[in-house]
This record gives sequence, C-alpha cells and structure tokens, in this order.
Amino acid sequence: MKIRMDKLNRVFSTALDIIENELLGVSRRHSVRVAILAAAMGRRLGMAEPSLTPLTTCALFHDNALTEYILSERPGANQPLNLRLHCEYGQNNIEWLPFPASVENFILHHHELADGGGPFGKKEGECPLEAELIAIADMVDVGNPLDSLAPEKLPALRWQIEDRKGSVYTRRATDALLAVLDAETLASLREESIASTIEKHLPAWEVESEDPAIMCAAGFITHIIDYKSTFTEKHTMQIANRSWIMGSHYGYDEIELARLFLAATLHDIGKIATPLEILEKPGPLSADEFAIIKLHALHTHEWLGGVQGLEDIHAWAANHHEKLDGSGYPLGKKAAELDFNSRLLACLDIYQAVSEKRPYHPRRGHGDTMPILRDMAQKNLIDREIVEDLDRAMAEYSNLDVPPPPPLRKAMDRRDTVISARRLRKA
Ligand SMILES: [Fe+2]
Ligand SMILES: [Fe+2]
Ligand SMILES: [Fe+2]
Ligand SMILES: [Fe+2]
Repeated sequence: MKIRMDKLNRVFSTALDIIENELLGVSRRHSVRVAILAAAMGRRLGMAEPSLTPLTTCALFHDNALTEYILSERPGANQPLNLRLHCEYGQNNIEWLPFPASVENFILHHHELADGGGPFGKKEGECPLEAELIAIADMVDVGNPLDSLAPEKLPALRWQIEDRKGSVYTRRATDALLAVLDAETLASLREESIASTIEKHLPAWEVESEDPAIMCAAGFITHIIDYKSTFTEKHTMQIANRSWIMGSHYGYDEIELARLFLAATLHDIGKIATPLEILEKPGPLSADEFAIIKLHALHTHEWLGGVQGLEDIHAWAANHHEKLDGSGYPLGKKAAELDFNSRLLACLDIYQAVSEKRPYHPRRGHGDTMPILRDMAQKNLIDREIVEDLDRAMAEYSNLDVPPPPPLRKAMDRRDTVISARRLRKA
C-alpha cells in the first residue's frame, strides 16, 4: 500500500512550526510559505517536477534543527545563534529522508549570502540553486512575514528585494522571486488560503509502506518529537522498537511491521502542541493541566486524519489512550471499536510510561512494571491477552533499552555514511 509522503511531511512540518513558534517566536507557517515560494520559483526557473520534491521538502524542513540546536548548544538565550551548527544539524537530519535525488547542501547552505557573508563564506554560484531559493524565501519571510503583509506594501518589499540583489540574494534567486511574488501570490500565502495553496504547489510523493523511506521518515520525526522535551526523550523510539518486537512475536510480515512501527513513532506527535511547562512539570498536574495534556491524542487524531494511505496507522496512533470500557480519550471509543494494533499500542504506551524514568517516578524493571499493567487489564481498561504476551516478550529487556529494528539500523547506517562522507570532504 502506498503512503503519501508529501502529506505526511506536512504533518511533520505542522509539528515543527509549533515548536519554532513556541521556542523562538517565529511566525506560524513560516516553513510552509518558504516551501510554496520555493516551488513557485523552481517551476519558474524550469526545474523538472521530480526535482521539485527534494526542493520543496528541504524548504519545508529548512529549519528542522532549530530546537535541537537551541536545546543542546544554546541553553541560554543570550548566546548568539551559531548558524553553522544550525545548518549542519539541519542537513544531517534531512538525510533521514531518502529522496529520489541528491539534496547535498540544500539545507547546509540555506544561510549563505550572495557576497560571501554567510556562515560558510560561500559566494553566488558556489551553492546549489535549491539552497539559494530556500535562502531568499526564508530571509524575505523572516523580515516581512508574508501572511500579514498588506498588499499596498508589496511594491516597497519588491524594491527592497531588488536592492539586495547580488549582495544578500543571488541574482538568479532574486529574479525568480520577483517573477513570482505578485499580489495574487501574496494573497495565496494568507492563513485562510495557505492550505489550498500548498495543495496546488507541492508535488505529490508516494512511497510503499515497507519502503525503507518509511522507516527513515519515522526516524526523522522521532528525533524531532523527542527533542521537544527531555521528559519524552526516548519514549517514542522505545515504543516503536518494542512494537517491532511484539509484531515479530505475532508473526507480522515486513509490511505490517513497518506500518505498526510508523504508527508507534507517530502516536504522540500531538504532544508537540502541548506547552512545555505542562509537559515538563515535575509535580502533580491540576485538572485543567491534565485536560490540556489529554488534547495531544486529539491532535494526533486530527493531524494524521488527512494522509492518504495512512488510514489504519492513523487509527492505531490516535487510539493509544482509548480504554476498552470507553473511559479513554480522545473519542471515548469502546472495546468493539478498538482493533488489535490499537490495543497493542495502548499497552505498549503504558508499559513504556510505567517503566521509564519520569519526573514523578523512577525507572522500573519488568517485574515492577507488569503488576501495574495486570491491574489495568483486570479493570477492563487494556487487553488482558496482550498484557500476558508483553510479559513473555519484554522480560528479557528489563531495565534495558530495546535496540532499533534491522531496517531502521540500515537506514541509520546509510545516513551516517552520507554524513561522514560530507565531513571528510570538508576536512
Ligand atoms: Fe535557518
Ligand atoms: Fe527559516
Ligand atoms: Fe500519549
Ligand atoms: Fe506515549
């Protein structure tokens, strides 16, 4: 079965937009506007449709490493942003996605200036066209968020862009942007029209579910979700790795395993919309705060709803807090509406949450985790038989991290090879 990768990427970018807005105050939908402008310029310059997928995907994810960079390298807001590192991390992360063509330097060089004043000192003509197009769209939208620019201000903006041609922006990127940035394009970037604009502009990208692309996409998003909070660190990946072991225990084939794995990596994607202070609160939550936490399952449900080819994965991911007696959320589904994989992910989510270290409880071994699950099964909240299967399959991993499954390890190796080749070239 095919999955619309471009639509899944848009879900990832929605998640990223929220993080950037929260951590940095970047205007919402910035990345989407950059992707739309990049696509328009690419077409204007006669780029063939297959090359638009790498261009627009990198445009959508040009700032994918902002949070990772800020959380790991720049804990205080008073240190200047190290643009080189931001670009390097971003390029490394994008290597998770196996594109139909090379994306070399597309994100690495997205902060270069035509006169060589950027972080890597590259001048006009030394960067791929894609990086130039992302750079100009990025800088123009950061300086003048295009979703709120009044139409009468467009001539002044166009003049300003022209004025920076050859110094800030490269000549060909400037000409391309000026050719597409008219009143109609500006209107198409407003909040009310951007959803239909993106439908029109971004090329479709289909991949088979068992394709390593899916495992890589899963790795990419997990990396980003877990960076949202040190508290969720590892949570997503461990559930995904455990889901592979359980699927193998039940004799699933590679396609079923990959689909279950993807559902596991996506189950908490809605948590990205949960404010950090609630997600990381060390003490007990108030009723209001718990209500906000619970919204994450609804977000997962809504965001994944529109991705063709993802229907069952969407259900398994969104049902992970439903309970057999109907007391769960977001939809209060009952046993009859919860299929096997939904029940399995619900059990795995609890198993992981109970066994991992949390602000309010220490790490628990398998022996201390199982009684909590059994108690819930007894109360008809989660599936009794799956709980017993977990007992058999998980015992050997007590207090240990479960390693990633072979296809993901392969994808990680491929990614590491690309990254070390780049480092070698640089050295
Ligand atoms: Fe950036
Ligand atoms: Fe940006
Ligand atoms: Fe959850
Ligand atoms: Fe979870």
